Amino acid sequence: MTPDLMEEGARRYAVREAAPVGRTESGGRAAGFSRPMVPGEVDTTHGRILYTEDVSVSFDGFRAINKLSLDIAPGELRCIIGPNGAGKTTMMDIITGKTKPDAGTVFFGSTIDLLRYKEPQIAQLGIGRKFQKPTVFEQLTVYVNLELALKTDKGVKASMFFRPDSEQSDRLAEVLRTIQLADSVDRLAGNLSHGQKQWLEIGMLLMQDPKLLLLDEPVAGMTDEETARTAELFLTLKGQHSLLVVEHDMSFIKTISEKVTVLHEGSVLAEGTLEQVQNDERVIEVYLGR
Ligand SMILES: Nc1ncnc2c1ncn2[C@@H]1O[C@H](COP(=O)(O)OP(=O)(O)O)[C@@H](O)[C@H]1O
Ligand SMILES: [Mg+2]
Repeated sequence: MTPDLMEEGARRYAVREAAPVGRTESGGRAAGFSRPMVPGEVDTTHGRILYTEDVSVSFDGFRAINKLSLDIAPGELRCIIGPNGAGKTTMMDIITGKTKPDAGTVFFGSTIDLLRYKEPQIAQLGIGRKFQKPTVFEQLTVYVNLELALKTDKGVKASMFFRPDSEQSDRLAEVLRTIQLADSVDRLAGNLSHGQKQWLEIGMLLMQDPKLLLLDEPVAGMTDEETARTAELFLTLKGQHSLLVVEHDMSFIKTISEKVTVLHEGSVLAEGTLEQVQNDERVIEVYLGR
């Protein structure tokens, strides 16, 4: 079998497995029967898009994540802060399947056990991740970058004959407006500013309409104006998508945040509004050092 076919098969399997009719978290009791699920849909009827409980992972005996528990609501924009080495990136690695934890539970919605899936399947299920550095195709135009993001079949032949259908074209136009690059469709991505490249990459994620977006230090290296525009962008995405944002820039966090989670030594140290966590003695101690 070709890798493409295998990938396609894996994707279909993931989607089918994701929505087993009647199978429930409660071990197969009837709850699922009265609520037939659409294949590929994430079940958020219990008010959560992402749920982790007591997740731990060690690297060579060092516990990078230590009984981490998180509960993210559908449409929520959650900010995660914490000193260097707190485990923020590792947390994202676990959610996206890049790293498998030694212990704990990770659920997408209330029925999808993410620990059963590999990284590409998790992306297909609707979890998009933005790494720190922009990874757009510099030699291609903004438009083509977004178009490429639509393709599920990356085979050469499929790519050559790929044309977006009208729904996809509409989506592309909408994403271009959202990321404020509608005037730059024909520019080469390599000629964009750092901030614009970051927005383009977010746009590429949006083309797949992810339910949950993970963003690791999205405004690092941006100008103040770019940072302000990114805040606006995230506020428009909130509600339609759930966002998990890791950032060090406190003024940015202040603009976008509702609930803030402080991570320290792989665990949740504090949770609340930015003001609440900033006034928490333990948080102050961690940030100022002992
Ligand atoms: N693949 C890995 N192998 C070994 N150690 C790792 C690995 N990934 C992360 N770590 C360690 O885990 C800790 C948490 O790292 P990280 O999640 O990158 O923190 P943060 O993103 O909060 O700065 C650090 O001490 C880091 O060195
Ligand atoms: Mg990090």
